[in-house]
Amino acid sequence: MTPEILVIHGPNLNMLGKREPETYGSQTLEAVNQGLADHGARTGLTVQTFQSNHEGEIVEKIQQARDGCDALIINPAAYTHTSVAIRDAILLLEVPVVEIHLSNIYKREGFRHNSLLADVVAGQIAGFGAFGYIMALDAVKNLLSH
Ligand code: DQA
Repeated sequence: MTPEILVIHGPNLNMLGKREPETYGSQTLEAVNQGLADHGARTGLTVQTFQSNHEGEIVEKIQQARDGCDALIINPAAYTHTSVAIRDAILLLEVPVVEIHLSNIYKREGFRHNSLLADVVAGQIAGFGAFGYIMALDAVKNLLSH
């Protein structure tokens, strides 16, 4: 069976393309999701994507991922730096989780240097723009092959 990968995009990522393009790039979220679907199809992964501006909705989506999801890729956006609730939800999962950021959060303001998820995920990708999502999908494919 083809592994099912859930990709969660956090707040303001629905504005990709329009939002600070010098930091986050010019691709829209739709284009990022299409790239994920295409790369998934090429590499034998089914990709489901979800975006929300609401912390509770993201928590609920992660809880639902306990059933039938083989790995999670998440860009929690601003919640990276604040959300104990998202961290706790990730701890409910038994499947690999990859954290991804478009920008290099460590080159930016001090408050972005701390991720509340970093020590509960398999690994983190940051600073490679939208290509980071493709890297995350390859990372997941590799983790699932072991
Ligand atoms: C982000 C980095 C966060 O600090 C920021 O709040 C975002 C996007 C990134 O992808 O680079 O919204 O997660």
